[in-house]
Amino acid sequence: MRHEDASWRESQRIRLDVNNVFGTHGLMPAELEAEAPRAAAAIAAIQQRQADLGWPLLPDQDVTPFEQFAAEHRDRIDTFVVLGIGGSALGNIAVQTAINGPFYNLLPRERRGWPRLLVLDNSDPELNAGALQILDLRRTMFNVISKSGTTAETMASFLYFRQALVEAVGEDHLGDHIVLTTDPNSGFLRQIGLREGWTMFDLPPKVGGRFSVLTSVGLLSAAMTGVNIRELLAGAAYGRELAANPDPLTNPAALGALINYLCFRKGKPIVVMMPYANRLRDVADWFAQLWAESLGKAIDRNGQPARVGQTPVKALGATDQHSQVQLYMEGPYDKLINFIAVERYAETAPIPTAYPDLEGVSYLGGHTMAELIQAEQQATAIALSEAGQPNITHIFPEINAFTLGQFFMLMEMQTAIAGELFNINAFDQPGVEAGKINTYALLGRRGFEERRAAIAARAQALDARWVV
Ligand code: PA5
Repeated sequence: MRHEDASWRESQRIRLDVNNVFGTHGLMPAELEAEAPRAAAAIAAIQQRQADLGWPLLPDQDVTPFEQFAAEHRDRIDTFVVLGIGGSALGNIAVQTAINGPFYNLLPRERRGWPRLLVLDNSDPELNAGALQILDLRRTMFNVISKSGTTAETMASFLYFRQALVEAVGEDHLGDHIVLTTDPNSGFLRQIGLREGWTMFDLPPKVGGRFSVLTSVGLLSAAMTGVNIRELLAGAAYGRELAANPDPLTNPAALGALINYLCFRKGKPIVVMMPYANRLRDVADWFAQLWAESLGKAIDRNGQPARVGQTPVKALGATDQHSQVQLYMEGPYDKLINFIAVERYAETAPIPTAYPDLEGVSYLGGHTMAELIQAEQQATAIALSEAGQPNITHIFPEINAFTLGQFFMLMEMQTAIAGELFNINAFDQPGVEAGKINTYALLGRRGFEERRAAIAARAQALDARWVV
């Protein structure tokens, strides 16, 4: 396999160009150098905690069970549906779009070879009811993914489609259409799986949702849609190697963490992730959760007030040049813009020559769309830099399973190192719990009566005058 060849791996290294971060409204090289010792300590701390964190070790796992499951079931189903939310869905979507491309589900079965993939990551009634209208349930398999096995949105979708399956295939055949991914020891989903005798894939207990794309969460749907998951993990292993470099100024994960940290400290609370590739647009979505949920924290590790975290913004080049870039250029100096550039697209899409007398059109002829989008990325980076807006560029040699796995690991390492620099716990999410508890209370779940009463009292105190 090509990823076993060291020179091929090196040819697929994602590079980080930070030249455009320097300037009056950005950073100075001396600032990076001054913080380098802290960043070096952060790298060392994460290296030491690898076993405890769990996700850095994921590239070493055996993926045979996922491949076997896919080989066994791919021909008897048309559609593989993921029911999950947040960290139990965003990675699945990112892998699917990046590797199989945006039109995969529209290809006829004989051309794509593998089942379609739907990821229903919302309790939006129209989304779920709409999916029922296009699914042939006799040829559909549902992968219910919930680490906790309690998440209301996922459990509701599970109950909804379970009932539809009972009506379509009968209760005795549910096990042919449902596979669970959950914690090996706890949660209601586990209990249900055991009671029903359904196939279950374990989720490593130490790995948090937003770091779980390379566990059974992301790997099963990837295997089911023909993604080379061995190459994905080989890429992640390579990313881990790059992120182990003890020098923070040449380690891309540490340099990225350091730049984000310093930008935040210098009044830039927004980070934009802007890939110039439709295939990477959902990777920006995956990154947004990783960055926001990991670093947005009220207190530091000593229990002191922190209130840190950058707000991630997803953008797509070149599309959002015609939407958000005006703001990036002329708005406040409150952002660090991350571009993702691609050196070699899988297609070049040559632009034909026509209308030689119309210079505004004819100059495009003879170029390719690949050249155009690359020029647009460079042009925007230069323009922003000249406008004093700091930006950095992650350069993908190609988009493939290896570079995608590498990017996942680099961004996870960057997040973990940034957590060290901010001195916060990057691996919990106490802020998400409050909303969950309120939902349980509003839906009348037993044990949440007190909260329900508090919400009712709050509702009483609201002034109808302010609902206009
Ligand atoms: O990153 C996280 O921890 C969250 O986004 C979870 O993935 C999300 O809340 C879903 O949780 P669960 O997998 O337990 O259903």
